[in-house]
Amino acid sequence: MKNTEFQKHNRRGFISTTAAASLAASTMVHSATAAKSELRPLRLAVIGCGGRGRGAVNDSLTINSGVTLVAAADLQLENCQRTFKDMSKTHPDKVDAKSTKLYSGLDGYKQVLNDPDIDVVLLTTSPGFRPLMVQAAVEAGKHVFAEKPVCIDAVGYRACLASHDLAQQNKTAIVTGTQYRRQVNYIAAIEQIRSGVIGEIVNITARYCTGGIWYRPRKEGMSDTEYQLTNWMHFIWLSGDQICEQAVHNIDTFNWVMGENPLSAYASGGRFTRPSDSEMWDSMSVAYEYPNSRTVSFMCRQIPGSQGLNDNVIYGTEGTCQIGASNSGSRIFDRQGKQIWEKEGRIKDAYREEHRALIESIRNETPIVELAQTANSSMVGVLGRVAAYTGKKVTWDFMTTQSTLDLFPKKLTWDGALPTKGFAVPGKTKPV
Ligand SMILES: NC(=O)c1ccc[n+]([C@@H]2O[C@H](COP(=O)([O-])OP(=O)(O)OC[C@H]3O[C@@H](n4cnc5c(N)ncnc54)[C@H](O)[C@@H]3O)[C@@H](O)[C@H]2O)c1
Repeated sequence: MKNTEFQKHNRRGFISTTAAASLAASTMVHSATAAKSELRPLRLAVIGCGGRGRGAVNDSLTINSGVTLVAAADLQLENCQRTFKDMSKTHPDKVDAKSTKLYSGLDGYKQVLNDPDIDVVLLTTSPGFRPLMVQAAVEAGKHVFAEKPVCIDAVGYRACLASHDLAQQNKTAIVTGTQYRRQVNYIAAIEQIRSGVIGEIVNITARYCTGGIWYRPRKEGMSDTEYQLTNWMHFIWLSGDQICEQAVHNIDTFNWVMGENPLSAYASGGRFTRPSDSEMWDSMSVAYEYPNSRTVSFMCRQIPGSQGLNDNVIYGTEGTCQIGASNSGSRIFDRQGKQIWEKEGRIKDAYREEHRALIESIRNETPIVELAQTANSSMVGVLGRVAAYTGKKVTWDFMTTQSTLDLFPKKLTWDGALPTKGFAVPGKTKPV
C-alpha cells in the first residue's frame, strides 16, 4: 500500500483520535448531545473470554451507562460463565442475567454475530482469528471493538482494509485496542511534536523489552489444535510472535508519530530461551526506513531475568521527546538536555476511554472506524518479523501488494492434526 493509501485509510483515524483526545483531556465531560443520546440502550457481547475479554467488558461497563452485557462466546463454556459471574458481581445492573446467551466451540462466535439483538461485539480472542471475525462482524452489521493486533499476515491485512471500507459504507463503528492512542501523555506529546517543538524528526528509538511470558504446557489427550489454541502465544499463526502480539503498541506509536508507513525493514534476532516446541523468537532488532531519510531503530525482547524497557524516544533537529509506556509519562528535552515539557498519563483511563469513545460515536451516529490505522501498525510488525525471519531486507510494497503470506490453517477442526511449522531460520525461511 502506498502512502496515499495510508492517508486515505488514516484520515478518519487521526480525526477521531484527536476528537477523543480533547474529550479525554477535559476529563470526559459529556456534551449535551451525548448525555441525551445515552438514553439509547446498547446490548454488548464478548467473543474471547480470557483475561483481556473480561478486562474489556469491565472497561466498557464501567465507563458507559445504558450498556448491558447479554452474550459471550469462547472455545470453553466455563470461560463464558466466568465472565458473566465476574461481571454480575461487579456490575449487577449491567448484566442481563435473564436472557444470558453463552456459546462455546470454534463456531460459537457465529451465533453471537447472527443474533439481531446484539449491537456491539468485543473481539478479544487470540490475534490469528481477528481478520475473519472482524469481517464477519462487519458483514453482520455489528459495531466492533477489536483487540490488537488486528492481523498477523498479508492476507489478514488486506481483509482488514476491506472490512474498514465496508464499515465506513455501512456506518458501523470499529474501535481497536491500541489504548495509547487515547492516553493523554501520548496525545499531548505528539501534538508538541506536530507543532515543531523538537524540529524535524530524524530517528525514533523504540523498545519493548520485558521478562518472560506465559507458556501453557500440553495436557494429556489434547489434540494439536486444542493445544495450539490454548498455548496460542507460541504459535505464529495465532500470535504473530512478540513483535506483532505485544510490541505492536510501540509500533503503533512510532507509525503515528511518523504519520505514514515505512518503506522497508532490515532485521536480526534469534531465540535462546523459548521452550523447544515454541515457534517464537525471543528477541528481534529491526531497522525501519521511512520516507525522507527518517529511520526507526526498534527492538523487542522477552527473556526471563533481563531488564525491561518500554518506550519511544523521538530525536528531532531541535530536541528529543521521550514517551514512556504504561504510566511513565512523556518528556521533552532541548538540544542541551534541559527538560522543557512533561505530561503524565494513566493507562487505566486510556483503556476505558476507548470504550467511551466507541459507544459515544455509535450513539452520536458518527461511528469511529479506525481498523485500517491499526492494520497498518500490525502490518509494520509483520514486515519486521518477515525481515528478521528471512534475513532479507523486505519492502512495505512487497508485503502489502505481492505477499501471499496466509498463516491461517486451511482446515481447522477441534480434534484435528496441526503439525507445527517450527521456528524460522534466516537464510532458509523465504519471504512469500
Ligand atoms: N490492549 C492490551 O493492552 C492487551 C492486553 C492483553 C491482551 N491483549 C490482546 O487481547 C487478546 C486476547 O489476549 P488474552 O490475554 O485475553 O488471552 P487469553 O488466552 O487470556 O484469552 C483468549 C480467549 O479467547 C478464546 N478464544 C480463542 N480462540 C477463540 C475462538 N476462535 N472463538 C472463541 N473464543 C476463542 C480462548 O478460549 C480464551 O479464553 C490478544 O489479541 C492480545 O494481544 C491486549
